[in-house]
Amino acid sequence: MERTSFISRSSSSLSSLLSNDEKSLLPRPAYHHQKPKIRVRTLLGHCLYRRVILWTAAGLVIVFLTLTSGNHGLRRERLLDLVKSKPYEKPEGSNGVEAVDGAKGDPGVVMVVTGSSKTEAPVWREGMPYWLRFKHLDGFFVGLKALVPASDYKPEHPRRAGEDSPFPLTISYTGLPTPTPFVPQPDYESPDYTAQYHEVQPCYLDKDNKIPVPDLYAYNGVVQGQSEPVIGSHSLLGLRDDVCFDRFGRYGPYGLGYSFDDGGAEVGMDTEREGSEAVWAKTGKINYDKIDWGDAQARCHESNKKRFVDVAAQSRASKTTSAEHAERTFSHSERPKEKIRRTAVVVRSYTGYQWTHHAVLNFRAMISELALRSGGEYTVHFLLHVRDGNEAIWADPVTAQRILDDNIPPEFHSICTLWSEDQMRLIYPGGFGRSFSNPSGGSVHGVYRSAHMPLQHFAMNHPEYDYFWNWELDMRWLGNYYELFDRLGKWGKQQSRVEAWERSAKYYIPRYHGDWANFTSLVHNETLASGRPAIFGPLNFPGRSPLRTEIAGNNFIPPACTSRFDPPNCGVGEDADLITLNPIFDAEDSGWVFSSDVTGYNTALPAPPRRCAIITASRLSRRLLEVMHEENWRLHHTMFSEMFPASAALHHGLKAVYAPHPVSIDREWDLAAVDRAFNGGRDHSSGGHGSPFDLRNEHNHKGTSWYYHSEFAGLLWRRWLGYAQYDGRGPNGGRSGEGTLRGGKLEEERASSTGRMCLRSMLVHPIKWEHPSELEDYV
Ligand SMILES: *[C@@H]1O[C@H](CO)[C@@H](O)[C@H](O)[C@H]1NC(C)=O
Ligand SMILES: *[C@@H]1O[C@H](CO)[C@@H](O)[C@H](O)[C@H]1NC(C)=O
Repeated sequence: MERTSFISRSSSSLSSLLSNDEKSLLPRPAYHHQKPKIRVRTLLGHCLYRRVILWTAAGLVIVFLTLTSGNHGLRRERLLDLVKSKPYEKPEGSNGVEAVDGAKGDPGVVMVVTGSSKTEAPVWREGMPYWLRFKHLDGFFVGLKALVPASDYKPEHPRRAGEDSPFPLTISYTGLPTPTPFVPQPDYESPDYTAQYHEVQPCYLDKDNKIPVPDLYAYNGVVQGQSEPVIGSHSLLGLRDDVCFDRFGRYGPYGLGYSFDDGGAEVGMDTEREGSEAVWAKTGKINYDKIDWGDAQARCHESNKKRFVDVAAQSRASKTTSAEHAERTFSHSERPKEKIRRTAVVVRSYTGYQWTHHAVLNFRAMISELALRSGGEYTVHFLLHVRDGNEAIWADPVTAQRILDDNIPPEFHSICTLWSEDQMRLIYPGGFGRSFSNPSGGSVHGVYRSAHMPLQHFAMNHPEYDYFWNWELDMRWLGNYYELFDRLGKWGKQQSRVEAWERSAKYYIPRYHGDWANFTSLVHNETLASGRPAIFGPLNFPGRSPLRTEIAGNNFIPPACTSRFDPPNCGVGEDADLITLNPIFDAEDSGWVFSSDVTGYNTALPAPPRRCAIITASRLSRRLLEVMHEENWRLHHTMFSEMFPASAALHHGLKAVYAPHPVSIDREWDLAAVDRAFNGGRDHSSGGHGSPFDLRNEHNHKGTSWYYHSEFAGLLWRRWLGYAQYDGRGPNGGRSGEGTLRGGKLEEERASSTGRMCLRSMLVHPIKWEHPSELEDYV
């Protein structure tokens, strides 16, 4: 009974919050009458661990319903009540802020922020995961009033022996800092740029070229005491670590913080927003009502066409055998100009996904920053998975349009490509043979086991792109997307191929491993000690089948690596074929659930060598996708989604790297323990026996900001968006949904608060909901 009333409330709650205008902006909710069913399918179908999660969830639901039958609904109500109206009460022993001097909030006030020094470590008992014994970190949640120049910044964690905690912080607060536009794109007008490349024509949001593409805003500095990322590094990848982003600087230019009447998204207005107007000072509040993003991208590319490699004029064959990537042409001036290769960002969408205004903002930002502000270097596409095989999406345009209307906000219709699993059966026909194992029981053409198939097909249909970012709806980059994708690509290009597979198999923990040269040397030593040769070039193994190009005597190794083998520089300057955002680990003996989901190889022989990277978000080159395509259609080989790209690259000698992007951890882990937990596999890597991706070890990722089942990512993101969250603290180690409600409007607005959060750039995943009203909807 309790459950029934809960469901009926949830299906109406969001609609009751929406005005009529708002409803018209979102896809027509034709599925509302059958919503509860679709919600569950949506959630699980998108998750790559459907079975595992189903089992766990089923168990938890039973236990939960038995133990707390009546309390559940009550708890949710309380959350919403507190967010909306109850004054915030400072919990005992929390990281309170005290104004020491003068009137509340007046300029010149000295504030003292107490922190982890006062927070008790959670209660830990034998048998609980080791990491639950570490104290939670507080610095993430300190606000803008504690902004300091990067040179004065001291992290709460990680700290070297002898370094003191920055807490308690003493802040001399003299008024909010002012954000400034953040532009990670090259200075297109600089003489250096125009000497090397063709001129860039500015792009506009509208047809009349009246609305320029806005820049997002950043604060110069870092919030004092904020933790540094434990895994990965900003500076290594060329990402700025001396600026931070608040919600208005990040999304305000795209519609956060203003109403539908002004053309905004009408979210963020229910959060603390002192000084937010600064982000609209230059452009005004942009009216996004009538933007057609496909049209804007097409116009932008058209006016910048001569900057890019013209694919039609190129022979495909020469590309697969050559690492030569910069095509030079002569313009009317005497100097040759370099042409740029284009990248598609392919966002994987699916029917039944519940669009929200926060999600819309995120993709407006992505298109603006990557495609329009770069003069067409990138193009964003949605690949919409039509799950109902009965829909005649190719026979009937009206059907296709209805599916768009029901599932995608109108402003993104023109960047959508529809696909279905039946279509994949047609493209990749014939029997695939036996699988070594198939724990999910899914079909070999299903998105769950073969998410790469529609991406390969997309790449074959879009010869204008050389690189493809596979992206998902529940990922957010707290920063400018151009900075992320551009720097990852450039970093990948600089990497040597020598021991790249070995380095990529290991989590990089800078404060523990030292700088990158040190890490490289460490991996070299560990590889020698392992007694296994470093991987280089195409792999030989029993049952290997060559590709057509290999039969013709070609390979993917750049000439510099073969003719005059020059170890450190081999591969340097060669664009990476695969860039992943988690280590590329050896799946053999790793304990990863799907490590033997390998199909089409001779099952009488040992399974072929495999590499895997959890989370399919990654950049794949055209030639890697061509290899995978041929493996699928001609050789009838395939592997589980997260394993296939890296394994295809491994077998055929393509260049693959794991880019150690900054990942934060919610607790004060001892760094040696981080290394033991995350590099606890064979030979101090993340693969083989002892892997952190072993089902029994994966829990270690729950406190990180980037993992498919992270508990910290969503908490941090929603606090940053300005919504109160349970802080995940308290007895039993403290976990998601436990503890005290912290943050949000009332807390941030208190005169003695440090204000809203400002974080350095980072990737967060999974973000399953954003506005508190979605929580009910999600559960
Ligand atoms: C590695 O770091 C140590 C100090 O932690 C330093 O002494 C050593 O020279 C570094 N090695 C390399 C190769 O950078
Ligand atoms: C690797 O081994 C060499 C030679 O023994 C040593 O000089 C170097 O410091 C080692 N590197 C690291 C990072 O331990």
